[in-house]
Amino acid sequence: MKASIVVLPGDGIGPEVTAAGIVVLEHIAERFGHEFTFSEHAIGGAAIDEFGDPLPPSTREACATADAVLLGAVGGPKWSDPNASVRPEQGLLALRKQLGVFANVRPLKLHPRSAALSPLKAERTRGVDLVFIRELTGGIYFGAKTRTADAATDECRYTVVEIERVMRHAFALARTRRKRVTSVAKVLETSRLWRSVATRIGAEYPDVALEHQLVDSMAMLLLTRPADYDVIVTENMFGDILTDEGAVLAGSLGLLPSASLGETTLGKNRAGLYEPIHGSAPDIAGQSLANPLGTILSTAMLLRHSLGLTEEAELIEAAVDSVLEHANLTRDLGGTATTHEVTQAVLEACLSRAEAA
Ligand code: NAD
Ligand code: IPM
Ligand code: MN
Repeated sequence: MKASIVVLPGDGIGPEVTAAGIVVLEHIAERFGHEFTFSEHAIGGAAIDEFGDPLPPSTREACATADAVLLGAVGGPKWSDPNASVRPEQGLLALRKQLGVFANVRPLKLHPRSAALSPLKAERTRGVDLVFIRELTGGIYFGAKTRTADAATDECRYTVVEIERVMRHAFALARTRRKRVTSVAKVLETSRLWRSVATRIGAEYPDVALEHQLVDSMAMLLLTRPADYDVIVTENMFGDILTDEGAVLAGSLGLLPSASLGETTLGKNRAGLYEPIHGSAPDIAGQSLANPLGTILSTAMLLRHSLGLTEEAELIEAAVDSVLEHANLTRDLGGTATTHEVTQAVLEACLSRAEAA
């Protein structure tokens, strides 16, 4: 298969983790006889420095015609002045909107060894296997904003259509899993709309159990009985917060991948966006301390969802599992390995699995 993949390294550890992702994708291409072409473009702070724009037209155009987009992370202290007129994250938000990727899929599966690194007791994390579906192109991130010298506002707006489509995504996914959806909202007006649409769409999936939770309670339940959850669907801001909390259950923020999907999966031709859920980690940037596994697992999601390459995706996931089992890991997971060493360990695990097969 031929595929053109746009890579947006971004800032901080972004370039370090996307480099790891490319190495793994190149290995897969060679092994399975695919032809992947990679083109790198600027986003975030790096794009502000080069073009004065966190999502310059050249990056927009490249993403519009790509088969898939792999992103590192954006942001950092250099661009985080609260009074700056342009900010790195504006580029990421605009890209999500441009690609129409309304469903952000963030799977959380606890490997026994990473469970040992979880701050939670082992009996609480045993069997955790859940997927967050975070609505990604609506809500408070995209509502009208105002700012004066003494006040600021962010409007949180959701339409029925925006809630319906992400709900359908969640229910369809639950059907392929343990058939449980937990819809998370709060007491706001948008939350009440969210809940009523969830209930109505839920009725279209009588084989899937629907439960409602308030977000504050959900934050607590993730720590007390995380193994009870299957698919958790929530709005943009709540999903952002709950998934960082979720990642820590797995032992490190550096472990969680994500796929941001839009109409691609529903048959229209738009690229998916793949990125680890972590940020640019300025505190460890440039030191080869970054855990590349979240990005490497994001490349597996890219192969599966944008290119339909299931066997290739499963090989990467199995290789990451065995690295988590046996290899020296990066510092966030209690090891001493560099980003490069962990990436090489993934390649070796891919090779040895293929030889064993
Ligand atoms: P962060 O996710 O960058 O880092 C939080 C902590 O986790 C840090 O201690 C960091 O060292 C650690 N960490 C994160 N990823 C890691 C990895 N792969 N390996 C090892 N350790 C890792 O969050 P932050 O520090 O709050 O934000 C830093 C910047 O990143 C901010 O500008 C923020 O806006 C931006 N950000 C970007 C994204 C994105 O691009 N998707 C996501 C979150 C934050
Ligand atoms: C994420 C990040 C972004 C978000 C920031 C950088 C805008 O935290 O991808 O989780 O809030 O969506
Ligand atoms: Mn986040």
